[in-house]
Amino acid sequence: LLKPSQAQTLKGRRVLITAGPTHEPIDPVRYIANRSSGKQGYAIATAAAAAGAEVVLVSGPVNLPDPAGVRTIRVEAARDMLAEVERALPADIAIFAAAVADWRVANAGAQKIKKTAHGMPPLDMVENPDILATIARRASNRPPLVIGFAAETEHVADNAAAKLARKGCDWIVANDVSPATGIMGGDSNAVQVFMKDHAAPEIWPAMSKDEVAARLIARIAETFSPTESIPRP
Ligand code: CTP
Ligand code: CA
Repeated sequence: LLKPSQAQTLKGRRVLITAGPTHEPIDPVRYIANRSSGKQGYAIATAAAAAGAEVVLVSGPVNLPDPAGVRTIRVEAARDMLAEVERALPADIAIFAAAVADWRVANAGAQKIKKTAHGMPPLDMVENPDILATIARRASNRPPLVIGFAAETEHVADNAAAKLARKGCDWIVANDVSPATGIMGGDSNAVQVFMKDHAAPEIWPAMSKDEVAARLIARIAETFSPTESIPRP
């Protein structure tokens, strides 16, 4: 029996993936970031390529090599990530695994901020564009399957179900990223998959991030019948 990853189940499909954190500049030498390692998104890109898909990975700054057989585009800030995602469309499947910074510094300095007698100057924070919601709610070129992640430290199921509705995506892969779980930066993951129009989530047991990726790609392939043709603009 072929493992789904070896079965070319996504041959001919174009898959767009975001991964990693974003870095939001404060000044030329400092930034705001988060603890995302990019491992889960990179594992999904690798699994999608192994399943025969044409994969574009838009990645924030991570310490991981470009996955083999994947077109990897490196970006720093959320706005650059959105621009590259839009350039990469159309896609059959979009998977937003990046831990996008929710806010950026509106008054980022062109020069290094210096210490003064008055202490640190205040940073004006403004909200970043929501890349997942922007793509999921597009009138044209919306990928037929749009998948988001929900990283939560509490009330995982309630928050994930609310996110599914709020973002306009088709699936939300939710995980508990409390420090005690070791998921943020670690090699294993335990997820619940919320699907639009499904009453209950699929609760997957704890497994490696590579296994989550393989299972997610297999689950995606099941939803696309081999003969179904995706309309292209
Ligand atoms: N996301 C995105 N762009 C943003 C923020 C989030 O594309 N500016 C995507 C993430 O890649 C993920 C999903 O939205 O697929 C949920 O991210 P999350 O941070 O859990 O949700 P938020 O809507 O930002 O809500 P909060 O951080 O307040 O929980
Ligand atoms: Ca967020």
